[in-house]
Amino acid sequence: MSFLIIDKVNKVYTGKTNEEIVALQDISLSCEQGEFITIVGSTGCGKTTLLRLIAGLEQPSSGTITIGENAVTGINEEVTLVFQQYSLFPWYNVLDNIGFSLELKGVDKHERIERVQKLISLVGLTGFEKSFPYELSGGMQQRAAIARALAYNPKVLLLDEPFGALDERTRHRLQEEFLAIWEREKKTIILVTHNIDEAVFLGTRIFIMRDRPGKIEEEVLIQLARPRSRQSKEFTDLHLHVRETLENILE
Ligand SMILES: Nc1ncnc2c1ncn2[C@@H]1O[C@H](COP(=O)(O)OP(=O)(O)O)[C@@H](O)[C@H]1O
Ligand SMILES: [Mg+2]
Repeated sequence: MSFLIIDKVNKVYTGKTNEEIVALQDISLSCEQGEFITIVGSTGCGKTTLLRLIAGLEQPSSGTITIGENAVTGINEEVTLVFQQYSLFPWYNVLDNIGFSLELKGVDKHERIERVQKLISLVGLTGFEKSFPYELSGGMQQRAAIARALAYNPKVLLLDEPFGALDERTRHRLQEEFLAIWEREKKTIILVTHNIDEAVFLGTRIFIMRDRPGKIEEEVLIQLARPRSRQSKEFTDLHLHVRETLENILE
């Protein structure tokens, strides 16, 4: 039995003129603990919807999602979703943003500060504990958001285009840091992106989605050794394959 099982999930929304919008159609996907799944697809193919369902923020119209032994029926502690936009509390500094969930859980102040300091150094924000979000660059805010997600200590981390708003250099650096965190923490990660390079660089498997209705078009196993070289032939071949698949969908 796999750790995370998405079984024949459909999600239908009602549009403004009462029309049916099939955001997801017949999605089945299962993954093992510690896998790094990446999902690519054009805007509107249902990527965010799928993450919201896994996180229990919404319910499927039909089908089931199971994590570990339990069906996902609502928000739960196993899963944390990092949103597309930086979702830090603007009125809290970095320390308090990251420590927020620990405070909610009743972790005492001493231990809280210790754990938060570890996370801050993990994401490379040492020295910025007292900074407020508006004082940080986009990349730093995103690192703080990731540290905050890790503070919840979820088994499954869902990331919705987390590096989308960053310039290429910052994105590459954060991807590397993130891989190191994944290898150390052994989390199960599902990362949504429309950046093919990112999907091939990070994933153990890529799911390519198509839109209208949102469906899985193809699953690609990525067996490239790490650290991966973007210049290697295997990398560029896989990149090309994913790009061609996405282009064929759009035709
Ligand atoms: N709450 C909603 N009500 C109606 N339609 C929605 C809602 N959320 C998403 N959709 C529609 O579902 C489809 C998939 O959206 P989304 O999951 O945001 O795609 P993606 O993240 O891949 O860009 C889109 O057509 C979108 O307009
Ligand atoms: Mg989206």
